[in-house]
Amino acid sequence: ETIDAKGRGAFIVVEGLDRSGKTTQTKKIEEALVGGGYKVKLRRFPDRTTVIGEMINNYLQSKSDLEDHVIHLLFSANRWELAKQIEKDIADGYTVICDRYYYSGVVYSAAKSNPELSLPWAREPEVGLPRPDLVIFLDLEPEVAEERGGYGDEKYEKREMQEKVRKLFHALNDSEEEEAEDMVIYDAGKSVEEVTKDVLQSVSSVSLAVKQRLHPELRK
Ligand code: TMP
Repeated sequence: ETIDAKGRGAFIVVEGLDRSGKTTQTKKIEEALVGGGYKVKLRRFPDRTTVIGEMINNYLQSKSDLEDHVIHLLFSANRWELAKQIEKDIADGYTVICDRYYYSGVVYSAAKSNPELSLPWAREPEVGLPRPDLVIFLDLEPEVAEERGGYGDEKYEKREMQEKVRKLFHALNDSEEEEAEDMVIYDAGKSVEEVTKDVLQSVSSVSLAVKQRLHPELRK
């Protein structure tokens, strides 16, 4: 079957706890797709190269302190400022692989247990952003993450926070929300090669489905 060269690309997100191997697996996915003849663009959130990204970076490195709602909205604004570019890349036929997206946005903020910042509140600013065709969640026990050389010293890289984040990722996956439909959970405690093998199964089938126009439009 011939495939229309003008078809859109897929939008694939890799999510997970700190030290779960997201960045490594993102690169493996890129290699595999490029090898398969796909045009690929990599992205990551937070994108620290913009003015908003710089504010986020200062917060994560404890160089500034921001109220919980404020930092939440900055993370969201950082996605909104790049959303049109992502849509354009996908329309131009690039498969966009994104290291973290609004799933992290919702879950990390809600994990702060601020009674004024509930999970439903946290989801609201994300409504209308391009919705991924696939979200891979790399699941890892915080104890194992720590054994992998420990966390860095950024704001959220503490055991207690990571435990809450993990619980909330699972809660989101078990919920009735549309985020649950998009998410596939993989055990990131396995070797890099094994995780790559698992992840590539989902990636291949979604990329092919998009290429064959079985997922016609990018959703919001
Ligand atoms: P990074 O280590 O992948 O660069 O992410 C930095 C931290 O920011 C990480 O602890 C997760 C957190 N985060 C949020 O709190 N909200 C968001 O929207 C995103 C994308 C990341």
